[in-house]
Amino acid sequence: MAIKLVIKDINAGYGAVRALHGVSLEINQGKTVALLGTNGNGKSTLMKCVMGMVKPDSGSVLLEMDGEVHDLTQMSTESIVNLGVSMVPEGRRLFPKLTVEENLLLGAYRQQARGQIATNLEFSYEAFPLLVERRRQLAGSMSGGQQQMLAIARALMSSPKLLLVDEPSVGLSPLLVSHTITKIKELKEKYDLTVLMAEQNFNQAIRIADYGYIIVHGEIVSQGDVESLKNNDMVKNFYLGVSA
Ligand SMILES: Nc1ncnc2c1ncn2[C@@H]1O[C@H](COP(=O)(O)OP(=O)(O)O)[C@@H](O)[C@H]1O
Ligand SMILES: [Mg+2]
Repeated sequence: MAIKLVIKDINAGYGAVRALHGVSLEINQGKTVALLGTNGNGKSTLMKCVMGMVKPDSGSVLLEMDGEVHDLTQMSTESIVNLGVSMVPEGRRLFPKLTVEENLLLGAYRQQARGQIATNLEFSYEAFPLLVERRRQLAGSMSGGQQQMLAIARALMSSPKLLLVDEPSVGLSPLLVSHTITKIKELKEKYDLTVLMAEQNFNQAIRIADYGYIIVHGEIVSQGDVESLKNNDMVKNFYLGVSA
């Protein structure tokens, strides 16, 4: 299934707070694109625009699938999930008092996915075998790394084609950050996903990204393939020094 996301010139915000200014971004089938920026620069807002959770004031978010074009700014989040787009939210947003399996079942939101709960549950457990033995454990009692795995597994419960991952590294130790990022790459390859990942950890994100965009104060200030970003002066000054 050919899929392409084209974000064109979007402006968005929250009342008087303007978070995105003329942001454009593209992701082609099978690619991993990193949206790089430190706190408060608009990464989550852009992800939410793709999920229909924030409506841009102007601009378009087009998802091309098999020759059909869907304008996500005109669709509900539920319909967007139904198309095959899923997000692992920042901070994981699990239900700590529910078990691992109950959290997974809540991910079977997509209409088509509801009929395939058993298959998708098996799929999520196959992707994350460590969750099988913990299926009856309360999500809140697991370590941060395990919770991040559960949050990703839950996003897989809607059998997405396009997976958005918002700051998977937050709150994890360096070793777990590395494991989590590697896992995202493995899942992408195994299940033929297309991935948009927001990160502040430049070095970890570019390990698996094909292409990156740097967002500062709601504007894309630089973009390019990973090699060109590593050699970009602004990146060297602002990111490579601080987020190794
Ligand atoms: N719900 C909200 N209400 C008002 N302002 C918000 C809200 N969410 C984010 N913002 C503001 O929008 C800007 C971008 O935030 P965000 O997209 O969360 O950035 P990032 O994900 O890069 O940290 C920030 O100035 C932030 O304070
Ligand atoms: Mg954020």
